[in-house]
Amino acid sequence: MYTQLEKINQRPKPFAYYTARDLWNDDYVSRKMLELHLNPDMDLASRKMEFVEMSAQWIASRFELGPGKSVCDFGCGPGLYTTRFSKTGARVTGLDFSRNSIAYAKQQALEQGLEIEYQLGNYLDFSAPGKFDLITMIYLDFCPLSPPQRQQLLDIFTNHLNDGGHVFMDVLTLRYFKQVTEERTYEYSRENGFWSPEPYYAFLNTWKYPETNLILGKHTLVEEHRTREIFNWLQCFSPKTLSRELGAKGFRILESYSDVAGTPCQEDGSEMAVVIQKV
Ligand SMILES: C[S@@+](CC[C@H](N)C(=O)[O-])C[C@H]1O[C@@H](n2cnc3c(N)ncnc32)[C@H](O)[C@@H]1O
Repeated sequence: MYTQLEKINQRPKPFAYYTARDLWNDDYVSRKMLELHLNPDMDLASRKMEFVEMSAQWIASRFELGPGKSVCDFGCGPGLYTTRFSKTGARVTGLDFSRNSIAYAKQQALEQGLEIEYQLGNYLDFSAPGKFDLITMIYLDFCPLSPPQRQQLLDIFTNHLNDGGHVFMDVLTLRYFKQVTEERTYEYSRENGFWSPEPYYAFLNTWKYPETNLILGKHTLVEEHRTREIFNWLQCFSPKTLSRELGAKGFRILESYSDVAGTPCQEDGSEMAVVIQKV
């Protein structure tokens, strides 16, 4: 037991493991996730519905979405944004590797008579013949990726953007990094908890890597017959580090906002949204 606890409390090397699929596509967890996505009052898997509404409207207006325009939403989840973008008349594609979310999104499109192309898969492997006027990646999805994965993703954006096309995405800032404290906690669930219907102990270790402004939330989920580890990496950026990283792949930041609803930039915001374009 002591050895196991030692292992739980051992700080891993930055980005040593990528477990996003276990977080988003485990059959049981992804059903719980879908409930969170669709909870109108919670900022968890998706942001609160009122904000999503405001943000989708702002994006549609900023990028003049409508007939003749094309959008691809990376990490579309259950389609809260794709559904709204599609209603403008734009051609919309949504990508996600959560089977449950894509099934829900497809059902919604069917019920609402919307023609949206949904693709189930890892967006780090995305390759399509078509190109888009706008690529969106909403709710900080750039932050869990390692530096090589982020570079890979920027190459994928490049390959799928029309001339003059834009990418719109949001990231965590250094303000967020400062707010987080390292901690170790655990909780017990008797039945139907977030991680499993069976009883489990969930250990949460939060580590900070100040050299690179990286945060790790590691969940160790201990059930009677299995133990799982979920690594939730969060890379935080300053405007300078983000600009440097995007610049290395030929992207320029055209506009910065405090959030994906176009709120003007505030110095001390914990998130930042950027419109970027290939130079
Ligand atoms: C934080 S949620 C945001 C969902 C949506 N953008 C929104 O704001 O409602 C992140 C989404 O990205 C998906 N995702 C994460 N990593 C992915 C990957 N490598 N490939 C495809 N989808 C991914 C998850 O399944 C999840 O639906």
